[in-house]
Amino acid sequence: MTASSLLTVDHDARHVSLDVRDPAFYRDPNQVYAALHAMAPTFYWKEQRQWYFTGYDHVNALLRDRRFGRQILHIATREELGIPAPLPHTRHFDAAEAWSLLELEPPEHTRLRTMVNRAFVSRHVEKMKPEIAALSHQLIDRFERDGETELLSSYADVIPVTMIARMIGIPEEMGPQLLKWSHAYVRMYMFARTEADEHAADQAAEEFSYYLRGMIAERRASPRDDLLSHMIHTEHKGQYLTEEELISTAIVLLNAGHEATVHQIGNSVKTILDSGLSPKTLFGDATATERTVEECLRIGAPVHIFERYALESVEVDGIPFQRGDKVGLILAAANLDPKKFSDPLAFKPERNEGPNLSFGAGIHFCIGAPLARLELNIALPILFERLPGLKLAGQPVVKDVYHFHGLDRLDLSW
Ligand code: HEM
Repeated sequence: MTASSLLTVDHDARHVSLDVRDPAFYRDPNQVYAALHAMAPTFYWKEQRQWYFTGYDHVNALLRDRRFGRQILHIATREELGIPAPLPHTRHFDAAEAWSLLELEPPEHTRLRTMVNRAFVSRHVEKMKPEIAALSHQLIDRFERDGETELLSSYADVIPVTMIARMIGIPEEMGPQLLKWSHAYVRMYMFARTEADEHAADQAAEEFSYYLRGMIAERRASPRDDLLSHMIHTEHKGQYLTEEELISTAIVLLNAGHEATVHQIGNSVKTILDSGLSPKTLFGDATATERTVEECLRIGAPVHIFERYALESVEVDGIPFQRGDKVGLILAAANLDPKKFSDPLAFKPERNEGPNLSFGAGIHFCIGAPLARLELNIALPILFERLPGLKLAGQPVVKDVYHFHGLDRLDLSW
């Protein structure tokens, strides 16, 4: 089946029909993005009932455009815009999201981001290098002699949650519980979520918040050298973060802090093995490693879409938007724009054609990008070095969700 056969395109109206539940799409969205670049880079997605952008310049500009925002309720009411009332069965989730950096706009966003950034910078991400390397080696020690492993559960799932939990100051034995909460929580961001997903996410938010309240009380009483203590005690213009802000921030850091990185590790290993290129060359030195990691991020981004509201009437690429209209920015597709990247579907770490947009841009640019990049630049080369002859031991299983793009299983042998 060709990618274009998954799409029904009305060229004049720029309307596209595309089923997100079709495995042929979510297993290999890049092929569809290539077809969209050729046929309708800016399009109205009928099933989602809103406009989407795939062009690199459009996505890059819209992420930075202050006429668009992540939030709209700071300048308009639900009634005015016809936004449905909050659901009673997602109230714990909504409370946890209320102060998420991702959901705020200036001036609130600026205040919170400045304070979180201060606490974050004081943790010196670079200093975590030896810890990430040691953890990667320990995990490989456990399965090296088996000659095979399922990499998501034995490696990719463990490194990001362990590092972010350590950084925040949450005991490591909470790792498995954090993963459960986080998996349930992030289903709220998926296309085509069900009511059962909403109930599960709400329960996760309630339990997660309750747990964090206890941690915050402990750290208030006896601060340690961890991110949570720093966030509690960071002051900006005489202000401190409130309890609700601390909880939202800790949750967004924990969720964003590992979910995307897990998938990026899995996607990267698959990309590298599929490419047939030699790991010795790909990870020859720090510069080669960095280029390999960036090319993996470009071609195998873990989170494909972020949305924005038009905060005022504005026209983009000939499409008029009214205040309150939502637009979808397909970062993963922007990374494949043939106007920006030559032979965009090819994995070419040596390309030097500008930055990928996998971490976003503008005021919401991923605050964890330095940590995620560090983890990838350490965990990937160690894996390939320790296990020469690494190869796929089965067809990788792609998660049946859009717009997170990751694997359920990655069976490897050596
Ligand atoms: C490969 C891994 C990662 C990817 C691809 C990724 C991607 C992104 C993207 C695209 C955004 C911007 C969203 C928008 O513009 O609406 C974002 C924001 C964010 N990310 Fe990441 N992220 C990753 C890892 C991390 C890590 C490790 C952390 C935490 C330590 C983190 C924490 C955050 C937070 C808190 C925000 C919100 C920032 C704000 O709104 O000001 N992310 N991330």
